[in-house]
Amino acid sequence: MASSRTLVLAVLISFLSCYAPVPSLASSDGFLKCLSAAIPKQLLYTQSSPSFTSVLVSSIRNPRLFTPTTVRPLVIVTPTNASHVQAAVVCGRQNDVRIRVRSGGHDYEGLSYRSVRPEVFAVVDLVNLRSVSVDQKTATAWVDSGATLGELYYAISKASKQLGFPAGLCPTVGVGGHFSGGGFGMLLRKYGVAIDNVLDATLVDAKGRLLDKQAMGADVFWAIRGGGGESFGIVLSWKVKLVPVPPTVTMFSVPKSVNEGAVDILTKWQEVAPALPDDLFIRVVIQKQVADFQSMYLGTCDTLLPLMSSRFPELGFNRSHCKEMSWIQSVPYIYLGSTATVEDILNRTTSLDTFNKATSDYVRQSIPKDVWVQIFAWLAKPNAGLMITDPYGGKISSIPESATAFPHRGGVLFNIQYMNFWSAATDGSAQTKWLKDFYAFMGPYVSKNPRQAYVNYRDLDLGENVIVGNVSSYQAGKVWGEKYYKGNFQRLAMAKGQVDPSDYFRNEQSIPPLAASK
Ligand SMILES: Cc1cc2nc3c(=O)[nH]c(=O)nc-3n(C[C@H](O)[C@H](O)[C@H](O)COP(=O)(O)OP(=O)(O)OC[C@H]3O[C@@H](n4cnc5c(N)ncnc54)[C@H](O)[C@@H]3O)c2cc1C
Ligand SMILES: *[C@@H]1O[C@H](CO)[C@@H](O)[C@H](O)[C@H]1NC(C)=O
Ligand SMILES: *[C@@H]1O[C@H](CO)[C@@H](O)[C@H](O)[C@H]1NC(C)=O
Ligand SMILES: *[C@@H]1O[C@H](CO)[C@@H](O)[C@H](O)[C@H]1NC(C)=O
Ligand SMILES: *[C@@H]1O[C@H](CO)[C@@H](O)[C@H](O)[C@H]1NC(C)=O
Repeated sequence: MASSRTLVLAVLISFLSCYAPVPSLASSDGFLKCLSAAIPKQLLYTQSSPSFTSVLVSSIRNPRLFTPTTVRPLVIVTPTNASHVQAAVVCGRQNDVRIRVRSGGHDYEGLSYRSVRPEVFAVVDLVNLRSVSVDQKTATAWVDSGATLGELYYAISKASKQLGFPAGLCPTVGVGGHFSGGGFGMLLRKYGVAIDNVLDATLVDAKGRLLDKQAMGADVFWAIRGGGGESFGIVLSWKVKLVPVPPTVTMFSVPKSVNEGAVDILTKWQEVAPALPDDLFIRVVIQKQVADFQSMYLGTCDTLLPLMSSRFPELGFNRSHCKEMSWIQSVPYIYLGSTATVEDILNRTTSLDTFNKATSDYVRQSIPKDVWVQIFAWLAKPNAGLMITDPYGGKISSIPESATAFPHRGGVLFNIQYMNFWSAATDGSAQTKWLKDFYAFMGPYVSKNPRQAYVNYRDLDLGENVIVGNVSSYQAGKVWGEKYYKGNFQRLAMAKGQVDPSDYFRNEQSIPPLAASK
């Protein structure tokens, strides 16, 4: 058995090394010529450029997605203005070379820089398009897709201490991919997801046109807000509504082990947390035999104490748990630790040492106490990973499911992210098997028909596009598409049919085009 697996692997490797990086020369020559005519040479990295590999890995975080057999792009284009992006699309169309767009490179399956199957493609990497301009008077900002969340938060705090923005926790996540999938963090109960606060955007479509909200039309503007990255074109920038933050927020972390009552407290948490006042967000990171209740409260410790003792006394929260700080200080605090500084959220450096794989669920009915006991038994197994639960309710749940493409709204108690990690010392098969088995175990206790998932926690095990007649199949796409987008999937496919009917912008989980008449 081992030897036949080795053989399959060897065949696969030779297949990939023959086909992966070597495109049909005619089209690649034409493509490179076309690019060189419109874009300065120093912004183009072909596979033979000395810095090709360092540019390619610059924002890769997960070595599972970058191996010797990973299908690499023919060229990486790093535009410094919109006309370069438009030129890349026009040249790609003329020469049958597809484009994958990368902003922060955090895609859980690496679809912004690798192709799962052998394919000739180019990467448009927006790393040089990352300005943030804040208008304090109107409490709005224009942010380029290539900016990180840390760069966005930092620029807002420089302009005003009274303003913030509701998006993810990790400062190196890119605005482009994150907003495309919805984007949530500790302000989700107060202000919803990132795209609930988007007012306008600019998009380069499959014809190479640069469109604003009005020019792209209502259906496409609806689709880019939560319908996932890649499908509708390259979003260059977003106009966002900034949100008020108080001078003091209170952070806390209260870890409870199973021996300290974690099962009972979690059983209570899942009903309490989604129903708390919107100013209070309490998520849980559950690993080994400990549930760590991590919170942000938009106010002081003095007002949080009575709220906690009336609504959630089971947690045993007291004044010693309170960490008061400004909203901008909470950004490094929650993700980089208590010694990190606000400047540290500008650090884009990533490291390639931890392999990981993740998937997600939505929970609409409380999980019974005896099941929480079994969940802790799963987390105690050898090679177990962790789960993070984010409560919904409040603003995120008050918006109708069809108002934006992000559909996880009313009735959701919480989101679960499951994740497992390993090092180069193992092949990860035990860790990924644990993840799959635990996900199967959770099936009866989570959303059903279809079982829902968050596209920003992308998982190719949910399904991949099937190409029929040169375009991604809508029927086949429903398998994974309705998990991410519920009833919005069909409308997304129709928006795709309007803006990119020939399916130029595609990847393994892009929205398939559907003609309006169907
Ligand atoms: C460490 C870590 C922490 C995270 N924390 C959170 C969190 O707190 N909350 C949360 O909601 N999510 C979180 N995520 C998930 C994150 O939101 C997604 O991975 C997101 O898609 C990353 O965006 P990116 O620009 O960095 O990724 P990329 O890999 O650049 O892009 C992701 C996808 O979007 C497409 N895309 C990128 N830019 C554009 C563009 N300008 N126009 C059109 N399509 C584009 C890509 O082609 C790809 O398909 C986290 C991920 C990681 C790795
Ligand atoms: C974009 O850059 C090109 C040079 O590559 C330049 O000719 C063009 O004027 C620039 N466009 C804008 C809008 O800055
Ligand atoms: C499929 O699309 C590619 C790229 O646009 C094109 O080169 C090819 O001719 C098409 N094939 C068919 C069968 O239409
Ligand atoms: C607060 O709670 C912690 C346990 O989480 C406990 O160790 C500590 O003694 C408590 N402090 C006060 C002042 O009650
Ligand atoms: C940026 O982050 C990397 C990786 O975490 C770290 O090694 C480096 O020291 C940081 N750089 C600065 C200037 O803080």
